[in-house]
Amino acid sequence: MGYSIAIDGPAGAGKSTIAKKIAKDEGLIYVDTGAMYRAMGIHLLNNNIPADDEAAISAECKNADITIKYENGEQQVFLNGENVTGKLRTEEVGDMASKCSVFAAVRTKLVELQQKLAKTADVIMDGRDIGTVVLPDANVKIFLTASSAVRAKRRFDELVAKGVKADIDEIEKDIIERDKRDMTRENSPLRQADDAILVDTSYMNIDEVCKTIEDIAHEKGGRA
Ligand code: DC
Repeated sequence: MGYSIAIDGPAGAGKSTIAKKIAKDEGLIYVDTGAMYRAMGIHLLNNNIPADDEAAISAECKNADITIKYENGEQQVFLNGENVTGKLRTEEVGDMASKCSVFAAVRTKLVELQQKLAKTADVIMDGRDIGTVVLPDANVKIFLTASSAVRAKRRFDELVAKGVKADIDEIEKDIIERDKRDMTRENSPLRQADDAILVDTSYMNIDEVCKTIEDIAHEKGGRA
């Protein structure tokens, strides 16, 4: 394993924004593991597999060939040869990703891919189980969180900026529901690793969060 920073936390805590910036600052490869669960979600939606049918999902996930490439430092996700990166960030796909991620067959397959990537490069990886399951020996582990109201407001602002009509209460309700499913599932639930450092971003801006994490990483000795 090379050098690694693990960032876990609930939806909308700012994991990907923060991880991308730290990757640039520190010369690390950013691995977005949620994107892999989202690609699996697309595959299952494409094949009309019901979200609660474990047997069908366990069988069908074997036919999803998910691979990762980097173009200009940006992660690109391929599903059976097609670049699906632009299709990952819809509510429908996020919902299917959360639902199918409860099943062991899906997790085993994607964790293997994530561990392979971490072997070949120095990475900052974000997700739900990175510090606990995927990279238990990560050099730095961060649990990034923020209140559900703040996370809903961030998502709301993002949608409004894109010109999409949104209801902030509806968004907060969805966020709470997604967190509950991610935290209470039997397989690799979202939880703070014993040796992870909690960073609450509710009242911090992006630069402050990055500096906090970079300071923690440098204090721990940085890269070998
Ligand atoms: O981070 P995200 O919203 O793109 O992730 C989508 C879903 O994928 C999330 O609700 C739960 C699942 N996921 C997971 O179970 N484990 C990970 N390491 C990353 C994501």
